[in-house]
Amino acid sequence: MLKEYNPYLEEKNGELYLEGISLKKLAQEFGTPLYVYSASYIRDRIKGYQKAFPGALVCYAVKANFNPHIISVAAQEGAGADIVSGGELVAALKGGIEPSKIVYAGVGKTVPELEMAVDKEILMFNVESREELFVLNDIAGRLGKKARIAIRVNPDVDPKTHPYIATGMKKSKFGVDFETAREEFKIAKDLPNLEVVGLHCHIGSQILDVSPYKEAVEKVVGLYKDLLKEGYEIKYLDIGGGLGIKYKPEDKEPTPKDLARAVGPFLEDTEAQVILEPGRSIVGNAGVLLTQVQFVKDKGIKHFLIVDAGMNDLIRPSIYDAYHHIVPVERKTDEYIISDVVGPICETGDFLARDRRIEKLQRGDYLAVLSAGAYGFSMASHYNVRPKPAEVLVEKGSYRLIRERESYEDIIS
Ligand SMILES: Cc1ncc(COP(=O)(O)O)c(C=O)c1O
Repeated sequence: MLKEYNPYLEEKNGELYLEGISLKKLAQEFGTPLYVYSASYIRDRIKGYQKAFPGALVCYAVKANFNPHIISVAAQEGAGADIVSGGELVAALKGGIEPSKIVYAGVGKTVPELEMAVDKEILMFNVESREELFVLNDIAGRLGKKARIAIRVNPDVDPKTHPYIATGMKKSKFGVDFETAREEFKIAKDLPNLEVVGLHCHIGSQILDVSPYKEAVEKVVGLYKDLLKEGYEIKYLDIGGGLGIKYKPEDKEPTPKDLARAVGPFLEDTEAQVILEPGRSIVGNAGVLLTQVQFVKDKGIKHFLIVDAGMNDLIRPSIYDAYHHIVPVERKTDEYIISDVVGPICETGDFLARDRRIEKLQRGDYLAVLSAGAYGFSMASHYNVRPKPAEVLVEKGSYRLIRERESYEDIIS
């Protein structure tokens, strides 16, 4: 079962290993909470996209995990980056991604952020509003550059995911509708410091059924063909990210091949280069969050495993009611209980699992929270003045610390 999450995750003699490294040893050496990621998994995932979409540019969505060492693994496999902030641009460049492979989305890009990206001559700005076109044109003019742009369109499809991560529906703040997009293409064409090169959409995240992609890409390719007829040179069709991953044991995760099969027929007769922006499906199941049981508390009507990882370390259960599978790092018992796994934060919403059937654990035991590589550390906070966890990268039997655990001084200064 573990291998269905990550083929490099295994149980040997009752103990968990990732890429041949004992997770108990890492927890003891670096302390907990600790994020541990498998580099081989990340490499395989990027290759999976490249194989399913030959000739496409895979732009790893840095928001999923911005550790420059993780980005560097993606860069080594030839990936570009999808960014949404100046900070993510800095992280992508630090990770070794070439500016010519960086696409920049986001509804609220600031002037300093745009200036930095224009100066670096990134591949393309995925523009989300009319005002952004004018601001970007001014900045590019001032810097003596031409900025390449795509318009982000909103194909108004329901990705059948959590409403907080559905981005391609009419009422969402992202992108513009097709009619507005046509107007904005006309405006952009006449702005001297912009070059219209692409069309972008991203319909949401954690999408387990590929049919919404079919609907979205069919609509977007329709617009693409109209634009070509009107004389635009659309070189890039950016179809976003969003492919879902296995969180629950019963989840069936779609593969890049499944996605290619769904959207391929629409993309077949286009000349544009396809751009993909996967984040979660690259790093999600590469990572686990290790945590240690601090106290076991039985209130009669409710049993609690109180661990040292809280909602500040992994917020997905609290804000999306997300399920993360949790397994003991060391199998010590065959006895199970129904328990909540909760953190030390002063919020009732601070939980990693609720009413979960789990091994009967004791103070000091370690747990591995699976599928924690994406939107884990990258959404971590300092709430309750809690230092952010350390991060370790493992690959083929070796490991290295890729982020030190923060100190109190780091937070308070
Ligand atoms: C524009 C854009 N591209 C790509 C992604 C990555 O999505 P995922 O991690 O689900 O693949 C997101 C995530 O929200 C996004 O907003």
